[in-house]
Amino acid sequence: MVLVGPMGVGKTTIGRKLSKVLKLPFVDTDSLVVAEHGAIPEIFAKLGEEKFREFEEQALEFALRAPGIVATGGGAVLSARSQVLLRDSTVIYLATNGRHIGSRLKGGKRPLLKDGVEAWRRIYEERKPVYQMVCDFEVDTSGKSLATTVAEIRELIQSK
Ligand code: S3P
Repeated sequence: MVLVGPMGVGKTTIGRKLSKVLKLPFVDTDSLVVAEHGAIPEIFAKLGEEKFREFEEQALEFALRAPGIVATGGGAVLSARSQVLLRDSTVIYLATNGRHIGSRLKGGKRPLLKDGVEAWRRIYEERKPVYQMVCDFEVDTSGKSLATTVAEIRELIQSK
């Protein structure tokens, strides 16, 4: 199962929780990229976004080789190759109305968000059709607790 969706929506947190309750391994593509190539802001600054996308594509391919839960970076769905790779997985799109996103984006580790929530909103609007295109299920996380979101996803995949 692969979790996609905008920055800060909770892909990693929800993915970890799902991996616990479903007793499946968990992989995060951002973490794989960091382990292999170093910190994300540095990759963007030194090698550029295009190179980061290449690393991300490789990380996704690697993550999909074993069964489990995969959390992706918000832009992982942009690559045509990744879109093809995702066809063989159950893809959950974690959506949000963005109301509480500001507090979730603190820490400055996201190079694309130098303009803050404004940039987040613009990027999310651009990518929404892509998330919708690649996903099997859309789950609205707005105002929901972690437990509720996880329960909803479990129900969806059991009904599949
Ligand atoms: C990005 C999202 C980030 C990370 C990188 C680029 C994006 O991951 O991959 O900063 O383009 O949306 P999160 O979605 O986990 O923040």
